[in-house]
Amino acid sequence: MRIAIACDHAGVAHKNAVIARLIALGHQVEDFGTSTTASCDYSDHGYPAVRSVAGGSNERGILICGTGIGMSIAANKVAGIRCALVHNLFTAQITAAHNKPQVLAFGARIVDEALGVAMVETWLSTPFEERHQRRIDKIHAGEGAQPC
Ligand code: RB5
Repeated sequence: MRIAIACDHAGVAHKNAVIARLIALGHQVEDFGTSTTASCDYSDHGYPAVRSVAGGSNERGILICGTGIGMSIAANKVAGIRCALVHNLFTAQITAAHNKPQVLAFGARIVDEALGVAMVETWLSTPFEERHQRRIDKIHAGEGAQPC
């Protein structure tokens, strides 16, 4: 699978651990940075990674910041993208089965590297349950909704 990955300064060590595991599993990984712990803005790295998924050059995306919150908010602004913010193996598994997110986000200040890697593996290996497609269609039907 072709997988985009990005992080901010808080997530570099976690990102490197995830990349190493994905490569060991035979995936192709495109790294959108950042690569140092110098302070940066998560959206500068997250948006290019997510846009590559939305555009089809990558099939999945992984985003890591301190909490995963900023990255996931930004990712869900990109048309067609469903980004799930996960905190444990349960949420990684359930979101794969119910929400079919193309993009996974998590917080490097919330989970350790081993759990981050395990959540990614769980998300990638859990099949989607087709009975949830109707709900996903309704998410996207509401995309770009105007205030009322
Ligand atoms: C950066 O300090 C921090 O705000 C960022 O990593 C993330 O937690 C934002 O949601």
